[in-house]
Amino acid sequence: MARRRVQLPPVKIGVLGLGTVGCGTLNVLARNRDEIARRAGRNIEVVAASARDLDKQRPIDTQGIRLTTDPFSVVDDPSIEIVVELIGGTDPARELVMRALDNGKDVVTANKALIALHGNEVFARAQAQGLTVAFEAAVAGGIPVIKTLREALAGNAVEWLAGIINGTCNYMLTAMSERSADFAEVLAEAQALGYAEADPSFDIDGIDAAHKLTILASIAFGIPLQFDKVHVEGIRNITLDDVRYAEALGYRIKHLGFAKRAAAGIELRVHPTLVPRRVMLAHVNGVMNGILIRGDAVGPMLLSGAGAGADPTASSVVADIVDVVRALTVDPNNRVPHLAFRADSLSEAPILPMADVESAYYLRLSAVDQPGVLADITRILADLRISIEAIRQPEAADGDATVSIIILTHRVGEAAMNAAVERIARLSGIGANITRIRMEEFA
Ligand code: NDP
Ligand code: HSE
Repeated sequence: MARRRVQLPPVKIGVLGLGTVGCGTLNVLARNRDEIARRAGRNIEVVAASARDLDKQRPIDTQGIRLTTDPFSVVDDPSIEIVVELIGGTDPARELVMRALDNGKDVVTANKALIALHGNEVFARAQAQGLTVAFEAAVAGGIPVIKTLREALAGNAVEWLAGIINGTCNYMLTAMSERSADFAEVLAEAQALGYAEADPSFDIDGIDAAHKLTILASIAFGIPLQFDKVHVEGIRNITLDDVRYAEALGYRIKHLGFAKRAAAGIELRVHPTLVPRRVMLAHVNGVMNGILIRGDAVGPMLLSGAGAGADPTASSVVADIVDVVRALTVDPNNRVPHLAFRADSLSEAPILPMADVESAYYLRLSAVDQPGVLADITRILADLRISIEAIRQPEAADGDATVSIIILTHRVGEAAMNAAVERIARLSGIGANITRIRMEEFA
């Protein structure tokens, strides 16, 4: 005889923030309501939502939802089981999330700043309460990279990962490469499309990518979240000339996050990188993100998809909501650990200082067009045992007394490259600004 299914009541959720991701989440929940209920085993009902300005026009249907300017009233609402935090930043998001946990509610968030900076404390509180804080949307928008690293790759020792993990930077670098777009103009486009952070300097200065790399590294290697140890560089100094010279040499400039396990410790760095055009990652363009992961068992694998935007990010938020609903009836001790490894089994592997990191380099300098300058530069590199892979000197424009010199080096320690740049800058006839961008071959 067929067993009768018990019909569980709808799960009530409260949404904090009705911006790009908040509206996307409400729309996806409404549009796919029946499919989502068939997966979760229960209906999911948004009963309350908060925003700062309730008069703002929003592309959502709020019928039946209690709207408020007070997010704490949502977090304190006893009928709500799951709080979805989509405000961003750490204040008031941290207090709201902690209060939601204290009130016995599970949390879903897209907030990488919160997780990277306060995740250790947030997860400890969640674990003590037997609750879940789910954060798939915090890294790479719609790409299920957290679930992949945490669950699908559980049998691997992850060796390294390299990712385009900021959609705004990738959108901007792609536009510079494909249509010679102006930096400020294309940043404004990314903002209008809802890709950029509330403060876009988080995107272009690499901080957002560093937040995400902190989270990925923790899950990949089983280490605590250590945002303050990430080396961070953004894309502010990348010029159209660099983009063109890199293309001419067979590379694309991408803003990458790297996490690599070495014998002496772990590398954590975020910076613009020349990526060879033969590598698939070089073809992840626009707002798409791509994360190349190397596990000892699976080998290299590339995950790619939209890294920002309303619907793609909502895809991850809603998947987390479904996961949390499914877990409501599971023994909290049997849930997948927040950071993939059991909290009492995290590794104390040190994060390597940049001085110990090796990389190949692209150097661009401007020099007075006179004999001997190039010889002086190559002598400095030779003295520091920096091996040159290629040198280009594009023809100077008519009447221009200075020329650009492009040098690609083989892999070299950071300390030697610092010394080389310092000595070259002191040569007479060399312009003060020497651009250096790391290169990775992914051989
Ligand atoms: P928005 O700026 O578009 O939306 C933020 C929402 O929070 C708005 O509804 C705003 O109200 C409300 N809000 C802002 N500050 C406060 C405050 N101090 N108190 C109460 N409410 C506040 O952000 P996004 O939707 O773009 O981002 C939300 C989160 O998702 C962030 O953590 C972001 O990093 C993350 N994320 C964003 C992605 C994207 O593509 N945009 C992709 C992946 C993650 P009001 O509307 O009235 O101004
Ligand atoms: N500002 C972020 C980006 C949003 O551009 O990638 C997605 O996390």
